[in-house]
Amino acid sequence: MLRRASGAPRRSGAGHGAPASDGDGGSGRLRAEGASASLVAGLAEAGGAKPPGVKIDIVTIFPAMVQASLSEGVVGRAAGRGVLDIRVHDLRDHTTDRHRVVDDVPFGGGPGMVLKPEPLFRAVESIRATRGTPRAVILMTPDGRRFSHAEAERLSALEHIVVLCGRYEGVDDRVRQSLATDEISIGDYVLSGGELPALVIVDAIARLVPGVVGDEASVARDTFARGMLDFPQFTRPAEFSGMAVPPVLLSGHHAEIEKWRRREALRRTLDRRPDLLSDAQLDEADRRLLHDLLEQRAKE
Ligand code: ADE
Repeated sequence: MLRRASGAPRRSGAGHGAPASDGDGGSGRLRAEGASASLVAGLAEAGGAKPPGVKIDIVTIFPAMVQASLSEGVVGRAAGRGVLDIRVHDLRDHTTDRHRVVDDVPFGGGPGMVLKPEPLFRAVESIRATRGTPRAVILMTPDGRRFSHAEAERLSALEHIVVLCGRYEGVDDRVRQSLATDEISIGDYVLSGGELPALVIVDAIARLVPGVVGDEASVARDTFARGMLDFPQFTRPAEFSGMAVPPVLLSGHHAEIEKWRRREALRRTLDRRPDLLSDAQLDEADRRLLHDLLEQRAKE
């Protein structure tokens, strides 16, 4: 299920000390509050008979943006089937002032605003009280550890994670010191906030949760699971604008097709990401193909 979380603890009545439950902190199903109701993706709950899916809680000041993206595609469908239980929390619901302020000027001066610690701590405490203690609290930040397939695999094995979207010039460092268990970056560039990075890692993690992608074999074949880039793919028509599909793919000869695909995957990896080859899962036949490719190159 994918839900916009119900409002702040102080509003829903489920305060910080609320006993842990697997529901909505006593508020039951999603409350039909404004846009919230339309943000529920798919499926009504099936009477509690189903095992709970992997839980992911995302804390952001742009809940609608995050929710809209997660409602679509593979992740949205998995949430609809109950394989994933994703909730998006509005950080402003965890403020205590009339203006729902989440940021403040940095001590010591300087430009920009810093996300205040209290709303983030309160948001995580509320999640803990209503959804149980998460196995990881991840802060999205450009100075975090670089996200990778290995990291996605590690996180996909955890039954409950919380993702905090950073914003503005930064986040009060006490969030890093004693709230976040992990700080993750999706690359060496700065985005205006952690929402898109959160969506990136949630998608990558979700794909690795059993039952999310229909075809498990295709996940195992994914580029970074094998440590090799994918072979070129073609579909109909067999000839387009003077460009023909490699004849072997039309031959129906499965062993030959498989060999061609492996060679082309190796060729691509060698051309574009030779660094991957040292850790790639290569069997004897791959090594021979690679050897042939390298010999061919040496002659060119
Ligand atoms: N927030 C802003 N830029 C980011 C990045 N590259 N990775 C993770 N979080 C971010």
